[in-house]
Amino acid sequence: MTSTSVSKTNGLGGTIAAADQCTDQNTAAGKPSWASDLRVIWHLLAHPVRGKTHAERLESFYSGQAGDYDSFRARLLHGRDELIDSLDFPTAGVWADLGAGTGKNILRAGGRCSALRQIQLVDLSPSLLDVARERLGAAGVTNAQYWLADVTRWEQAEESVDLVTFSYSLTMIPDWFKAIELAHRILKPGGVIGVVDFYVSRKYAAQGQRQHGWLRRSFWTHWFGADNVFLSPDHTAMLHQKFDATRFSERLGRVPYLPLVRAPYYLFVGTKRATDVG
Ligand SMILES: C[S@@+](CC[C@H](N)C(=O)[O-])C[C@H]1O[C@@H](n2cnc3c(N)ncnc32)[C@H](O)[C@@H]1O
Repeated sequence: MTSTSVSKTNGLGGTIAAADQCTDQNTAAGKPSWASDLRVIWHLLAHPVRGKTHAERLESFYSGQAGDYDSFRARLLHGRDELIDSLDFPTAGVWADLGAGTGKNILRAGGRCSALRQIQLVDLSPSLLDVARERLGAAGVTNAQYWLADVTRWEQAEESVDLVTFSYSLTMIPDWFKAIELAHRILKPGGVIGVVDFYVSRKYAAQGQRQHGWLRRSFWTHWFGADNVFLSPDHTAMLHQKFDATRFSERLGRVPYLPLVRAPYYLFVGTKRATDVG
């Protein structure tokens, strides 16, 4: 296993009563400021991403903007709060947030996830995971485990997890199909997967699904591709194939400083079928 469990805060089975006090969105997201935005924009547009491996490239991308991450992303990564607010957190259950970043989703869930036995935060960027550990620790979260690991190789027992979430992480995982396979494998039958992310439709979208024109598909694919965020029409197709969808919503969201355009994103919630074997 190439992944490493870097730390586990305060043991398992604890409660996070104090997390109720940490859902203030300014605290969780950081207050927007021009200086912070400029640093992020410089990183997005001008800072060369270096590295021979995916992990090195991620760290090259995030290390200089980890502290500014949440404020800017709060205005770019739409639907995350809506997704988290719509999910149930079963008593004594296990939640794996894959590509967890700075732990924002856990702060959003707050006291609603205090009865979980474990919250597993998995991410390949040490800089972002450090922010998550610091924030959740300060918020008194005691049932979180932090895994510095590639989601596609993360070792977790089969059918051991009640809830898996990916928020804007699938598009950054080159072997995203392995990540969905892993989610399927570790979820218990009847377990829930929640995903929110950017995407583009197929040229010929399935009936009842949103159709994006050539310009929209091409523009966003190239725009995000410059930062190694790979939009695809196939993520949603595979999610529908592997899970029973209970919710699928296709949207357009604002992009900071680009008033004339809207980026396509979706929310997917599904359950693992009881009879699935793989
Ligand atoms: C756009 S960020 C989203 C972070 C967080 N989920 C959020 O909503 O703010 C994408 C995250 O995926 C992580 N990531 C990318 N590839 C990964 C991989 N193969 N394994 C684990 N994490 C990965 C990145 O380090 C980053 O934290």
